[in-house]
Amino acid sequence: MTSFEFALLPLLFLPLILENPLTSAQMMSSLVKPGIFRHLMCRNNMYPRSSVLRYPVSDEQVFWSEPFPDYCPPAYTAPHIGGQVWADPPLPSDTFWPQWNQLDGQVNRESFHGAYNVQNGLPLNPIGRTGLTGRGSLGRWGPNHAADPIVTRWKRDDQGAIVANPTTGKNIIQMVAIQRSDNKLWAIPGGMVDPGENVSVTLKREFTEEALNFTDKANMVERFFQAGGVQVYQGYVDDFRNTDNAWMETTALNFHDEDGSQVGQLELMAGDDASNVRWTDVDSNLKLHANHADIVREVVIRRNAHW
Ligand code: BGC
Repeated sequence: MTSFEFALLPLLFLPLILENPLTSAQMMSSLVKPGIFRHLMCRNNMYPRSSVLRYPVSDEQVFWSEPFPDYCPPAYTAPHIGGQVWADPPLPSDTFWPQWNQLDGQVNRESFHGAYNVQNGLPLNPIGRTGLTGRGSLGRWGPNHAADPIVTRWKRDDQGAIVANPTTGKNIIQMVAIQRSDNKLWAIPGGMVDPGENVSVTLKREFTEEALNFTDKANMVERFFQAGGVQVYQGYVDDFRNTDNAWMETTALNFHDEDGSQVGQLELMAGDDASNVRWTDVDSNLKLHANHADIVREVVIRRNAHW
Protein backbone atom coordinates (compact mmCIF):
# COMPACT_ATOMS: atom_id res chain seq x y z
CA MET A 1 0.00 0.00 0.00
CA THR A 2 1.40 3.45 -0.90
CA SER A 3 1.51 6.14 1.76
CA PHE A 4 -1.19 8.00 -0.16
CA GLU A 5 -3.49 4.96 -0.02
CA PHE A 6 -2.64 4.55 3.64
CA ALA A 7 -3.63 8.17 4.32
CA LEU A 8 -6.99 7.50 2.66
CA LEU A 9 -7.68 4.49 4.86
CA PRO A 10 -9.76 6.37 7.47
CA LEU A 11 -12.19 7.36 4.67
CA LEU A 12 -13.13 3.73 4.37
CA PHE A 13 -14.65 3.94 7.84
CA LEU A 14 -16.44 7.23 7.21
CA PRO A 15 -19.82 5.72 6.23
CA LEU A 16 -19.75 3.66 9.41
CA ILE A 17 -18.94 6.70 11.54
CA LEU A 18 -21.64 8.85 9.93
CA GLU A 19 -24.21 6.10 10.20
CA ASN A 20 -23.60 5.51 13.86
CA PRO A 21 -22.62 8.61 15.83
CA LEU A 22 -21.91 6.45 18.89
CA THR A 23 -19.10 4.69 17.06
CA SER A 24 -17.39 7.99 16.42
CA ALA A 25 -18.10 9.15 19.96
CA GLN A 26 -16.53 6.03 21.34
CA MET A 27 -13.55 6.28 19.06
CA MET A 28 -12.95 9.89 20.06
CA SER A 29 -13.95 9.34 23.64
CA SER A 30 -11.85 11.28 26.11
CA LEU A 31 -12.95 9.08 28.97
CA VAL A 32 -10.59 7.38 31.38
CA LYS A 33 -7.61 5.80 29.62
CA PRO A 34 -4.80 4.07 31.53
CA GLY A 35 -1.47 5.77 30.94
CA ILE A 36 -3.13 9.07 30.04
CA PHE A 37 -5.75 9.78 32.64
CA ARG A 38 -4.44 11.08 35.98
CA HIS A 39 -6.61 10.54 39.04
CA LEU A 40 -8.51 13.66 40.03
CA MET A 41 -10.97 12.55 42.70
CA CYS A 42 -8.95 9.89 44.48
CA ARG A 43 -5.71 11.72 45.07
CA ASN A 44 -4.29 14.33 47.48
CA ASN A 45 -7.31 14.46 49.77
CA MET A 46 -8.73 12.99 52.96
CA TYR A 47 -10.30 9.57 52.43
CA PRO A 48 -14.12 9.96 52.72
CA ARG A 49 -15.64 9.36 56.16
CA SER A 50 -12.23 8.92 57.76
CA SER A 51 -9.35 10.97 59.07
CA VAL A 52 -6.87 9.21 56.79
CA LEU A 53 -4.88 11.55 54.57
CA ARG A 54 -3.72 10.13 51.25
CA TYR A 55 0.02 10.19 50.57
CA PRO A 56 0.68 13.14 48.20
CA VAL A 57 1.00 12.10 44.54
CA SER A 58 1.76 14.71 41.87
CA ASP A 59 0.38 14.50 38.30
CA GLU A 60 3.63 12.96 37.06
CA GLN A 61 3.77 10.42 39.89
CA VAL A 62 0.37 8.85 39.18
CA PHE A 63 1.63 6.25 36.72
CA TRP A 64 3.25 3.09 38.09
CA SER A 65 5.85 3.34 35.31
CA GLU A 66 7.20 6.51 36.95
CA PRO A 67 9.74 5.65 39.71
CA PHE A 68 8.65 7.01 43.09
CA PRO A 69 11.07 5.53 45.67
CA ASP A 70 9.68 7.60 48.57
CA TYR A 71 6.09 6.50 47.95
CA CYS A 72 4.78 5.38 51.32
CA PRO A 73 0.95 5.41 51.29
CA PRO A 74 -0.99 4.59 54.47
CA ALA A 75 -3.14 1.45 54.49
CA TYR A 76 -6.83 1.87 55.23
CA THR A 77 -9.83 -0.42 55.12
CA ALA A 78 -13.00 1.02 56.65
CA PRO A 79 -14.02 -0.94 59.75
CA HIS A 80 -17.70 -1.11 58.69
CA ILE A 81 -17.00 -3.38 55.68
CA GLY A 82 -15.63 -6.16 57.92
CA GLY A 83 -17.84 -9.27 57.74
CA GLN A 84 -20.32 -7.78 55.20
CA VAL A 85 -21.70 -10.30 52.71
CA TRP A 86 -20.93 -7.93 49.83
CA ALA A 87 -17.27 -7.54 50.91
CA ASP A 88 -14.19 -9.74 50.48
CA PRO A 89 -12.33 -11.01 53.55
CA PRO A 90 -9.08 -9.23 54.46
CA LEU A 91 -5.80 -10.01 52.67
CA PRO A 92 -3.32 -11.61 53.16
CA SER A 93 -5.24 -14.67 54.27
CA ASP A 94 -4.63 -18.42 54.62
CA THR A 95 -8.16 -19.27 53.51
CA PHE A 96 -9.10 -16.66 50.91
CA TRP A 97 -7.40 -17.03 47.52
CA PRO A 98 -9.09 -14.71 45.01
CA GLN A 99 -8.80 -15.63 41.33
CA TRP A 100 -7.60 -12.33 39.92
CA ASN A 101 -8.42 -11.18 36.39
CA GLN A 102 -11.24 -13.66 35.92
CA LEU A 103 -14.69 -14.66 37.03
CA ASP A 104 -14.07 -15.96 40.53
CA GLY A 105 -17.15 -18.05 41.30
CA GLN A 106 -19.90 -15.44 40.99
CA VAL A 107 -17.59 -12.48 41.62
CA ASN A 108 -16.34 -10.68 38.53
CA ARG A 109 -12.67 -9.81 39.16
CA GLU A 110 -12.01 -8.87 35.54
CA SER A 111 -11.23 -5.27 34.63
CA PHE A 112 -12.59 -3.63 31.47
CA HIS A 113 -9.07 -2.29 30.94
CA GLY A 114 -7.38 -5.67 30.47
CA ALA A 115 -5.28 -7.64 32.92
CA TYR A 116 -4.17 -5.67 35.97
CA ASN A 117 -0.98 -6.47 37.86
CA VAL A 118 -0.89 -8.19 41.22
CA GLN A 119 1.90 -7.13 43.58
CA ASN A 120 2.61 -8.82 46.92
CA GLY A 121 -0.71 -10.63 46.62
CA LEU A 122 -2.72 -7.42 46.05
CA PRO A 123 -4.24 -6.16 42.77
CA LEU A 124 -2.84 -2.88 41.48
CA ASN A 125 -5.04 0.00 40.33
CA PRO A 126 -4.82 -0.02 36.49
CA ILE A 127 -4.60 3.79 36.27
CA GLY A 128 -1.94 4.35 38.90
CA ARG A 129 -1.26 5.61 42.40
CA THR A 130 -3.94 7.02 44.70
CA GLY A 131 -1.86 7.62 47.84
CA LEU A 132 -3.65 4.88 49.78
CA THR A 133 -3.43 1.07 50.01
CA GLY A 134 -6.07 -1.29 51.37
CA ARG A 135 -9.68 -1.22 50.25
CA GLY A 136 -10.95 1.96 51.88
CA SER A 137 -14.72 1.60 51.92
CA LEU A 138 -14.94 -0.57 48.78
CA GLY A 139 -16.01 -4.16 49.30
CA ARG A 140 -13.87 -5.92 46.71
CA TRP A 141 -10.15 -6.06 46.21
CA GLY A 142 -9.49 -5.06 42.60
CA PRO A 143 -12.41 -3.97 40.41
CA ASN A 144 -15.77 -3.18 42.03
CA HIS A 145 -18.39 -3.28 39.30
CA ALA A 146 -21.28 -0.81 39.08
CA ALA A 147 -23.97 -0.13 36.48
CA ASP A 148 -25.32 3.32 35.58
CA PRO A 149 -28.65 3.99 33.82
CA ILE A 150 -28.71 7.39 32.13
CA VAL A 151 -32.44 7.97 31.69
CA THR A 152 -33.18 10.89 29.37
CA ARG A 153 -36.00 12.84 27.71
CA TRP A 154 -36.20 16.08 25.73
CA LYS A 155 -36.97 19.25 27.64
CA ARG A 156 -40.46 20.47 26.72
CA ASP A 157 -42.43 23.68 27.31
CA ASP A 158 -45.98 23.86 28.71
CA GLN A 159 -47.40 23.12 25.24
CA GLY A 160 -45.27 20.00 24.96
CA ALA A 161 -42.91 21.45 22.32
CA ILE A 162 -39.24 20.52 22.56
CA VAL A 163 -37.08 23.37 23.87
CA ALA A 164 -33.88 24.24 22.02
CA ASN A 165 -30.99 26.30 23.33
CA PRO A 166 -31.12 29.73 21.57
CA THR A 167 -27.34 29.85 21.07
CA THR A 168 -26.59 26.38 19.71
CA GLY A 169 -30.06 25.78 18.27
CA LYS A 170 -29.83 22.23 19.57
CA ASN A 171 -32.52 20.56 21.63
CA ILE A 172 -31.97 20.40 25.38
CA ILE A 173 -31.83 16.92 26.85
CA GLN A 174 -32.75 16.19 30.47
CA MET A 175 -31.55 13.31 32.62
CA VAL A 176 -32.66 11.79 35.88
CA ALA A 177 -30.03 12.70 38.47
CA ILE A 178 -29.94 11.73 42.13
CA GLN A 179 -28.14 13.44 44.96
CA ARG A 180 -25.94 10.85 46.61
CA SER A 181 -26.27 10.50 50.35
CA ASP A 182 -22.54 9.79 50.84
CA ASN A 183 -20.93 12.86 49.22
CA LYS A 184 -24.00 15.03 48.47
CA LEU A 185 -23.00 15.27 44.79
CA TRP A 186 -25.52 14.87 41.96
CA ALA A 187 -24.98 11.64 40.05
CA ILE A 188 -26.40 9.04 37.70
CA PRO A 189 -28.70 6.77 39.77
CA GLY A 190 -26.45 3.73 39.51
CA GLY A 191 -25.44 0.98 41.87
CA MET A 192 -23.28 -2.07 42.43
CA VAL A 193 -23.67 -5.19 40.32
CA ASP A 194 -24.39 -8.08 42.70
CA PRO A 195 -22.35 -11.28 42.26
CA GLY A 196 -23.68 -13.25 39.29
CA GLU A 197 -26.16 -10.49 38.39
CA ASN A 198 -26.74 -9.40 34.82
CA VAL A 199 -25.99 -5.69 34.35
CA SER A 200 -29.42 -5.11 32.78
CA VAL A 201 -31.04 -6.25 36.03
CA THR A 202 -28.83 -3.92 38.10
CA LEU A 203 -29.69 -0.95 35.88
CA LYS A 204 -33.44 -1.33 36.33
CA ARG A 205 -33.22 -2.24 40.01
CA GLU A 206 -31.05 0.73 40.92
CA PHE A 207 -33.15 3.18 38.93
CA THR A 208 -36.35 1.95 40.55
CA GLU A 209 -34.89 2.00 44.06
CA GLU A 210 -33.07 5.32 43.86
CA ALA A 211 -35.16 7.49 41.58
CA LEU A 212 -38.68 6.10 41.96
CA ASN A 213 -38.47 4.63 45.46
CA PHE A 214 -40.40 1.77 43.93
CA THR A 215 -43.55 2.66 42.04
CA ASP A 216 -47.01 1.52 41.09
CA LYS A 217 -45.94 2.05 37.46
CA ALA A 218 -43.58 -0.93 37.73
CA ASN A 219 -44.89 -2.56 34.52
CA MET A 220 -44.28 0.53 32.43
CA VAL A 221 -40.79 0.94 33.87
CA GLU A 222 -40.13 -2.74 33.17
CA ARG A 223 -41.17 -2.31 29.51
CA PHE A 224 -39.13 0.88 29.15
CA PHE A 225 -35.96 -0.84 30.33
CA GLN A 226 -36.70 -3.99 28.37
CA ALA A 227 -36.85 -1.99 25.13
CA GLY A 228 -33.12 -1.72 25.64
CA GLY A 229 -30.53 0.95 26.24
CA VAL A 230 -27.50 2.11 24.31
CA GLN A 231 -24.17 1.44 25.95
CA VAL A 232 -22.18 4.67 26.19
CA TYR A 233 -19.31 3.72 28.50
CA GLN A 234 -17.66 0.74 30.08
CA GLY A 235 -14.57 1.17 32.23
CA TYR A 236 -12.83 2.82 35.15
CA VAL A 237 -14.59 5.43 37.27
CA ASP A 238 -12.63 8.26 38.91
CA ASP A 239 -14.34 7.60 42.24
CA PHE A 240 -13.34 9.30 45.50
CA ARG A 241 -13.23 5.86 47.21
CA ASN A 242 -10.61 4.30 44.90
CA THR A 243 -7.34 3.05 46.35
CA ASP A 244 -4.17 1.44 44.99
CA ASN A 245 -5.79 -1.99 45.49
CA ALA A 246 -9.52 -1.40 44.94
CA TRP A 247 -11.35 0.72 42.37
CA MET A 248 -14.71 1.33 40.71
CA GLU A 249 -15.61 0.37 37.14
CA THR A 250 -18.98 0.83 35.50
CA THR A 251 -21.16 -0.04 32.54
CA ALA A 252 -23.33 2.94 31.58
CA LEU A 253 -26.35 2.68 29.28
CA ASN A 254 -28.62 5.40 27.96
CA PHE A 255 -32.38 4.77 28.12
CA HIS A 256 -34.09 7.53 26.17
CA ASP A 257 -37.80 8.40 26.23
CA GLU A 258 -38.00 10.07 22.81
CA ASP A 259 -41.59 11.35 23.01
CA GLY A 260 -41.67 11.78 26.79
CA SER A 261 -44.65 9.45 27.11
CA GLN A 262 -43.10 6.80 29.34
CA VAL A 263 -40.58 7.27 32.12
CA GLY A 264 -40.47 10.94 31.11
CA GLN A 265 -43.92 11.30 32.72
CA LEU A 266 -43.08 9.69 36.02
CA GLU A 267 -43.06 11.44 39.35
CA LEU A 268 -39.59 10.94 40.75
CA MET A 269 -39.05 10.10 44.40
CA ALA A 270 -35.68 9.65 46.08
CA GLY A 271 -35.04 6.35 47.82
CA ASP A 272 -32.29 3.99 49.01
CA ASP A 273 -28.85 5.74 48.75
CA ALA A 274 -30.31 8.94 47.25
CA SER A 275 -31.35 11.98 49.26
CA ASN A 276 -32.85 13.86 46.28
CA VAL A 277 -33.87 13.19 42.71
CA ARG A 278 -34.80 15.41 39.76
CA TRP A 279 -34.92 15.84 36.00
CA THR A 280 -31.83 17.93 35.27
CA ASP A 281 -31.01 19.95 32.14
CA VAL A 282 -27.81 18.60 30.65
CA ASP A 283 -25.16 21.03 29.43
CA SER A 284 -21.46 21.77 29.79
CA ASN A 285 -22.02 23.32 33.25
CA LEU A 286 -23.24 20.02 34.64
CA LYS A 287 -21.20 18.99 37.70
CA LEU A 288 -21.62 15.39 38.72
CA HIS A 289 -20.05 12.79 41.00
CA ALA A 290 -16.78 11.15 39.78
CA ASN A 291 -16.50 11.31 35.98
CA HIS A 292 -20.24 10.93 35.43
CA ALA A 293 -20.42 14.23 33.49
CA ASP A 294 -17.97 12.81 30.91
CA ILE A 295 -20.11 9.72 30.61
CA VAL A 296 -23.28 11.80 30.16
CA ARG A 297 -21.51 13.80 27.43
CA GLU A 298 -21.31 10.61 25.39
CA VAL A 299 -25.14 10.59 25.43
CA VAL A 300 -25.24 14.22 24.31
CA ILE A 301 -23.00 13.42 21.33
CA ARG A 302 -25.03 10.36 20.47
CA ARG A 303 -28.35 12.29 20.59
CA ASN A 304 -26.93 15.44 18.99
CA ALA A 305 -28.26 17.46 21.92
CA HIS A 306 -27.25 20.86 23.24
CA TRP A 307 -24.14 20.87 25.48
C1 BGC B 1 -22.60 4.32 42.09
C2 BGC B 1 -22.44 4.41 40.58
C3 BGC B 1 -21.07 4.94 40.27
C4 BGC B 1 -20.02 4.11 40.98
C5 BGC B 1 -18.66 4.68 40.76
C6 BGC B 1 -21.49 3.54 42.73
O1 BGC B 1 -21.60 3.67 44.13
O2 BGC B 1 -23.83 3.76 42.44
O3 BGC B 1 -23.39 5.32 40.09
O4 BGC B 1 -20.80 4.95 38.88
O5 BGC B 1 -20.25 4.09 42.37
O6 BGC B 1 -18.53 5.97 41.25
